[in-house]
Amino acid sequence: MDKRDIGVFDSGIGGISVLKKIIKFLPNENIMYFGDTKNIPYGEKTKKEIQELSERIVKFFILNNCKVIVIACNTATIAALDMLKSLYKIPIIGIIDSGVEAVSLNGYEEISVLGTPFTIESKEHLNKIKIRNKKMKIDTISCRKLCPMIEEGWEKFENRYEVLDEYMSHIPKTSDALLLACTHYPFLIKDIQKRFKGTIIDPGEECAKELFKVLKKKDILSDKKDKGKIEFYVTGDKKGFKEKIEEFLGTHIDDVYEVNI
Ligand code: DGL
Repeated sequence: MDKRDIGVFDSGIGGISVLKKIIKFLPNENIMYFGDTKNIPYGEKTKKEIQELSERIVKFFILNNCKVIVIACNTATIAALDMLKSLYKIPIIGIIDSGVEAVSLNGYEEISVLGTPFTIESKEHLNKIKIRNKKMKIDTISCRKLCPMIEEGWEKFENRYEVLDEYMSHIPKTSDALLLACTHYPFLIKDIQKRFKGTIIDPGEECAKELFKVLKKKDILSDKKDKGKIEFYVTGDKKGFKEKIEEFLGTHIDDVYEVNI
């Protein structure tokens, strides 16, 4: 019985791929989406920098009386989830375990993981997947250029297919599945599908299910009968952001607020 908001954040538009799944599972919830577009990409920053950036967003959500926070960013989850959980009482959900869970649900022999430099260098997916699936072969590929290109507007880049082909050429032919370990990559799902015939795993859906479980367990699911309101906040320019997310969500957005935190 709760009308307070769910806070969802990412370095930019990536978390919108998670938001889309959350709206599907929890259509009556009010949500505040925060894209730290002034500071993107997180994937090329240090752990300390990502922790500081993430903490100020968590404080923003707490000040706005959110009831739960979703880190809809693999990079920020790896760098800051444990630290934030140790400092704040509000429930905070990350996206790494959702990816690990989605991979582990099926008996793949070999999978490939695409992520930002920070995510891949941390070996977080590799280590966590190995604990649950000892025999699974895991290939990881660091894709430095993808997140910034998606954020700026994928279609603008004439060399986009060369860049994507280069990264995807590292995926072994024997890979059964591909884990999208950066929430920006579902924006390229059609281009990725054309280049990979196995199963493509987007952890957003598992993350939305986890969020539902947490809200239910804590008895803070919304009791609204009508559609929840979704508000969007960015630290950079709102114009391009609004256009991109309207296209991805396939719906009109009233406004996006620029904030300086
Ligand atoms: N969407 C973020 C992720 O899942 C991208 C991080 C970045 O800004 O580099 O990792």
